[in-house]
Amino acid sequence: CGIVGYVGSQSALDVVLAGLKRLEYRGYDSAGVAVIADGSLAAVKKAGKLANLEKALVDRPLPAGSTGIGHTRWATHGGPTDANAHPHLDNAGRVAIVHNGIIENFAALRAELADSGHELASETDTEVVAHLLADEFAVCADLASSMRAVCRRLEGAFTLVAAHADVPDLVVGARRNSPLVVGVGEDEAFLASDVAAFIAHTRSAIELGQDQVVEVRWDGVTVTDFEGRPADDDVRHYHVDWDASAAEKGGYDYFMLKEIAEQPKAVADTLLGRIGAEGQLTLDELRIPAQVLKMVDKVVIVACGTAFHAGLIAKYAIEHWTRIPCEVELASEFRYRDPILDARSLVVAISQSGETMDTLMALRHAREQGATVLAICNTNGSTIPRESDAVLYTHAGPEVAVASTKAFLTQLVACYLVALYLGQVRGTKWADEILPVVRDLARIGEEVERVLETMEPVRELARSLAGHDTVLFLGRHVGYPVALEGALKLKELAYMHAEGFAAGELKHGPIALIEEGVPVVVVVPSPRGRSVLHDKMVSNIQEIRARGALTIVIAEEGDRAVVPYADHLILVPATPTLLQPLVATVPLQVFACELATARGNEVDQPRNLAKSVTVE
Ligand code: G6P
Repeated sequence: CGIVGYVGSQSALDVVLAGLKRLEYRGYDSAGVAVIADGSLAAVKKAGKLANLEKALVDRPLPAGSTGIGHTRWATHGGPTDANAHPHLDNAGRVAIVHNGIIENFAALRAELADSGHELASETDTEVVAHLLADEFAVCADLASSMRAVCRRLEGAFTLVAAHADVPDLVVGARRNSPLVVGVGEDEAFLASDVAAFIAHTRSAIELGQDQVVEVRWDGVTVTDFEGRPADDDVRHYHVDWDASAAEKGGYDYFMLKEIAEQPKAVADTLLGRIGAEGQLTLDELRIPAQVLKMVDKVVIVACGTAFHAGLIAKYAIEHWTRIPCEVELASEFRYRDPILDARSLVVAISQSGETMDTLMALRHAREQGATVLAICNTNGSTIPRESDAVLYTHAGPEVAVASTKAFLTQLVACYLVALYLGQVRGTKWADEILPVVRDLARIGEEVERVLETMEPVRELARSLAGHDTVLFLGRHVGYPVALEGALKLKELAYMHAEGFAAGELKHGPIALIEEGVPVVVVVPSPRGRSVLHDKMVSNIQEIRARGALTIVIAEEGDRAVVPYADHLILVPATPTLLQPLVATVPLQVFACELATARGNEVDQPRNLAKSVTVE
């Protein structure tokens, strides 16, 4: 969910709505705002996208006010209805609260409130907080200390932001395991789930620590822990270096199109300053002593969604270049199966947002077991890098479209850098294998650019397939995770049945799915180098074609062997095998985006999804 709070000299309603727009990618099944003006509190909330709320505000205008809070929701407890939308108010309508996360003991709290005469209007876990807060405030008339008292009673993960009509120039926030940043402007201050909500106003930010309560006023910010002890030393002040325009669509119809187009730059930015003139990798920023890296006897990668696919590809690179065994696991499965880790394990947590709860929990578990945790992350100052031993930032810039594109490519680059660096530190295969790859990697942004220049036939093909129900994806070696990513993109965006398979598995089951006219996208390995893989893939294409599949073949420029079997051929530049995903994924992104458009789907905000999932 996205949260915004504002107090200051501008119209709180305008600032909060603009902030919510920037955060809508975090959830968009309902939205609401509350404003304090002239000693009273007024709220409007609506199921559906923010546009519904804006319409409702035309019918029922709110006063501008100088204090306001707002929320855009991704439903957990209770469906996306007007009543379940945030803010939630107490019975007297004096306090308003917005929440991100899950309050695990809400049923007990709700029963207690109902017994003492409170009337609860929604099915949400959040509403109990509004009532508890009102009760506390009735006793002490201090919103921050009421918030602390309530937080001490809550179990689970939460960000809470509250405003009370009796204390009009104050917004109070609290966080546990869920993001909340403070923006400090002149005569104004902001609270938000992420800096995108306020970078148009200020670049000066404060990142809160765990279990903290913050009071923001026109002229200052006070942070304490849940017991009320000052916590100013435990917060981090920083300057946001993201450009506000980077979060705008810049002439494209969708953020996703813009983000696909930005990939050459994102890749180049992620490489910048990390490869020396002699091809040596300079990742001193990792701050993991070479001694520790030399001792590592196992790498475990944890991630979710698209980031997990980056991890699957990283495994091929890490094991090949470093000979260290590498496991890749879905973060949500990892800690619950009691994984074997110790001080010689390097756990790599990959996350665009740095907030995915499943990944955060996995890394905490890894640290408890004594492993060293390295985060690969795109969001400066977010929770996952903050809680890791080291971080390698990807420099994709803000990614707004829910379906990840440029973040994925930069995650791959970061994974390659880590793999190559491990190889460099440990001296494995340095001169003969690693150095040439580093040189290719340094130039890869140009190859991605070339792919983007040739995408019109892919778009045409996508449009022609809009009426199909199923698309299958096949790959081998690093092409297999690429196939998985291609299928995920299509599910997310086109809402089509899409599955990725390892081409070798085809004969063990999936081939039964092939019938006349089923489109199958095949990611073909390079014919150079490991040509045995290539040749096996060519046989697979023939097998599916013989059974009626419509073959869409992604192959390297100059690969003549596939031509007779490709109903549609998409050529990508030649790269070393392990780097091929950087070029082979791009057509699949374009394909999914165009298919979604052709099917009339919302590209940037697919149904049921959220960009950053801060619940387990
Ligand atoms: C959500 C998004 C996916 C993303 C995944 C992991 O499910 O919809 O696009 O890949 O989270 O996100 P992260 O921020 O951890 O990379």
